[in-house]
Amino acid sequence: MARPKIALIGAGQIGGTLAHLAAIKELGDIVLFDIAEGVPQGKALDLAESGPVEGFDVSLKGTQDYADIAGADVCIVTAGVPRKPGMSRDDLLGINLKVMKAVGEGIKTHCPDAFVICITNPLDAMVWALQVFSGLPREKVCGMAGVLDSARFRHFLAEEFGVSMRDVTAFVLGGHGDTMVPLTRYSTVAGIPLPDLVEMGWTTQDKLDAIVQRTRDGGAEIVGLLKTGSAFYAPATSAIEMAEAYLKDQKRLLPCAAYVDSAFGLKGLYVGVPTIIGAGGVEKVIDIKLQKDEQAMFDKSVDAVKGLVEACKGIDESLA
Ligand code: LMR
Repeated sequence: MARPKIALIGAGQIGGTLAHLAAIKELGDIVLFDIAEGVPQGKALDLAESGPVEGFDVSLKGTQDYADIAGADVCIVTAGVPRKPGMSRDDLLGINLKVMKAVGEGIKTHCPDAFVICITNPLDAMVWALQVFSGLPREKVCGMAGVLDSARFRHFLAEEFGVSMRDVTAFVLGGHGDTMVPLTRYSTVAGIPLPDLVEMGWTTQDKLDAIVQRTRDGGAEIVGLLKTGSAFYAPATSAIEMAEAYLKDQKRLLPCAAYVDSAFGLKGLYVGVPTIIGAGGVEKVIDIKLQKDEQAMFDKSVDAVKGLVEACKGIDESLA
């Protein structure tokens, strides 16, 4: 059986980390694309030279030519500009929308059967634009955010409760921005929902509220520390989890920015929701029941995403 082909668009910090993880996991042969002369070639060669030590057997190629992504099974898009301290993800909309247009056209021409995972910010609007520019089926284009935001939430909870993160589950829905919705009622330690743990006296509501806010600010916290870029290890590993779910038909239940056309009372919008990812791409959106306060937070987040989508239409007429 031929090895799967994985195209990584953007050879920055996330692109390089994606290539490293995909190689170590032997998910398939890797093509690293970037417009920056020499960078994808240099990173691909460096990684290939780590192969004999790591013991992985995949081919790695760096390129400036979209033709090299031809026939890719998975395409992970990180191209574009990261934010700097003091900026919001939304400030990147204009510049990254132009990048999504070029990337979408490259995907449409060269790998129309790929499962596409977008990481570029502002995420939900960029996924929407990428799907329109590429013309790929909506269930084959999605965004990595829920896995990342939920991983941050899990990490903070595991620290607070002094338990292994293996025993913590968490769900973050909504747009990947300041209005994201960490769902405490659907998050658990050893299967016990967080509100029950407050009632049991294992933590306080104030501490939980602080963790929820820290999760919402998780990306900005890293940007503030790095100063010259944004997070890359956790975003990359989150996207690889989604790619693996697709390539191995794992039917993983993962929160991601997916096209929602009837669930959650929505009609035709990309936003973070629980999904099942398998060989069909985003095979199902799971329409979980939200309480009144949760629904209000989710609606606020949806409105923020809708505003960004409208802004995209205002910038690029072909999207209107
Ligand atoms: C993140 O959450 O780490 C990414 O969306 C990057 C950012 O700008 O915060």
